[in-house]
Amino acid sequence: MFTHQDLARLQAQSLKMQGWIRQQTYSPELEKTLRRFSSWEVAELIFRVNQSTLRGRLAADPSLPQGQVEEDGRQRWYALEEINELRRRLRVNRRSLMPVRPRGKRAIRAAIANFKGGAGKSTVALHFAHAAALDGYRVLCIDFDPQATLSHSMGLSDVAEEFTVWGIMARDLIAETARMNAAASGAESGTALPRRRLPEAITAMGLGDLRNADFIKPTCWPTIDLIPSCANAAFVEFASAQYRHLNPEWSFFAAVSRFLDGLADDAYDLIVFDCPPAIGYQSMNAVFAADVLYIPSGPGYWEYDSTTSFIGQLSEALEDLSRFSGIVPAGTMTLPKAFCDIRFLLTRFEPANELHRAMQQAFGKVFGDRMTTHPIEMTRAVEQSGRFLSSIYEIDYRDMTRETWRRARASFDGAYGEFRDNLVAAWDQLEARA
Ligand SMILES: Nc1ncnc2c1ncn2[C@@H]1O[C@H](COP(=O)(O)OP(=O)(O)O)[C@@H](O)[C@H]1O
Ligand SMILES: [Mg+2]
Repeated sequence: MFTHQDLARLQAQSLKMQGWIRQQTYSPELEKTLRRFSSWEVAELIFRVNQSTLRGRLAADPSLPQGQVEEDGRQRWYALEEINELRRRLRVNRRSLMPVRPRGKRAIRAAIANFKGGAGKSTVALHFAHAAALDGYRVLCIDFDPQATLSHSMGLSDVAEEFTVWGIMARDLIAETARMNAAASGAESGTALPRRRLPEAITAMGLGDLRNADFIKPTCWPTIDLIPSCANAAFVEFASAQYRHLNPEWSFFAAVSRFLDGLADDAYDLIVFDCPPAIGYQSMNAVFAADVLYIPSGPGYWEYDSTTSFIGQLSEALEDLSRFSGIVPAGTMTLPKAFCDIRFLLTRFEPANELHRAMQQAFGKVFGDRMTTHPIEMTRAVEQSGRFLSSIYEIDYRDMTRETWRRARASFDGAYGEFRDNLVAAWDQLEARA
C-alpha cells in the first residue's frame, strides 16, 4: 500500500536529482545568464540589415556600442543592452530600427493556451518572449502553470507562493471585498450587497501590503520580466475555490486583469501568458486578461481531438462568466469576454511527415483564417534545449550543427513574425486609455 508519504519520499529523491541537473545546466553561480550576440546575428537576424552596412556605421561612430571582439578578431559580440542602444540610435536607409508600438496604449496581452499537456505552450511562450525581446520589445511573462516550466526556463526557481498568480488573486480578493463592503455601507437604499468578512488566515498574510512591483521579477534578459509560478497546483486550485466561496460576488477570473490594469501603460509592450494544461482558476484568469488567444497544438489526430474539446469547454466557461455582468461595477469590465484575435498554431510539425501535412490541411479547413500559416517545426535543437532550459535564441549557434540551429531559428522566427503582425493588428483595436 502506498500513501501520500510514499509520494513525498519519491519526490524528495527526485528533487535531489533536480538540484544536480540544475547545477549541471546553469552557470557556476547557479544563475542563468544571457549570452552575447555576434555582429552577424545583430545585422542579419536582429536588425535585418546588411552586415557590411552595420560594420560601416559602427566604424564611423566610435561612440556607438562596440561589443566585445572574439579571440580571432573577426566577429564582435554584443550584449542585448548594447543591441538596444544601437536600435535606439541608428537609422538605416532612413528606417528606424525600433519595433512598432502604437502610441498611448497599454501593452498587448497574449495568452498561449490549450489544456493538452505537451502541446508546446511553454516552448512557444519562451520563444515568443525571447524573439520579441530581440525585436526590441519590453516583455512581461506570466507563468500561470504551477508546473513552472517557463519560470524554470527563465532561471527562476524557489519562488515563494505569495509572489505567484495565486498571491495576485488572494490580494485581489482582499481589495475587492473591501471595495464591495465600502460600496455596501455607502449605499443608502439598503439594497446593496451584503457585507462580507474574510477569515484572518487570508487577511493576516500581509498580501494587502504588497505592491504590484513585488510580484514582478527580473530575468537574465534585461528587457524580460516574469511573474513566476511555483509547484503547488492543488493548493492553488483548492484555495481559489475556497476564496470564491468566501465572496461569491468576487469576479475571481478578473484578478490578473485588474493587476495588469494597475501597471503603467508604457511599462511593457508585450505581455505573454503561459497557461496551465487545464481549465481552472488560473487559466481562466489568463484567458480573461488576454487580448489575443494563441492555441498551440501538436499535429497528431489526438491533439486535434483535444484541441476541439478545449475550445468547447473554454467557450462554456467563458459563457458562465457572463453571469457576473450584473455584479461588477459598470464600466470596469466588459462581459462577455471578447478577444481581439484567436489563432491556432501547429507545433512540433514535421514537413516531411505525410500525416502531419494531412493534419495541417485538416486544421486549415476547419479553422480557416484562424489558423496561422507558419507552423513551428519539430527540431532537435529544442529537444536538446529542454534539458539545457534554453531557447534557440539563447543557444550559441557554435554549440550545435549550424544547419540545425538555422532551421530551428527560421521556424521560430517565422511563427514569431506572424504572431507579432497579428498582435500589432490587435493593438490597433485596443482603445487608448484616457
Ligand atoms: N518545436 C519543438 N520541437 C521539438 N520539441 C518540442 C517542440 N516544442 C515542444 N517540444 C518538446 O515537447 C515537450 C512539451 O513541450 P512544452 O512546451 O513544455 O508543452 P506544454 O507547455 O504545452 O506542456 C517538451 O519536452 C519540449 O521540449
Ligand atoms: Mg507548459
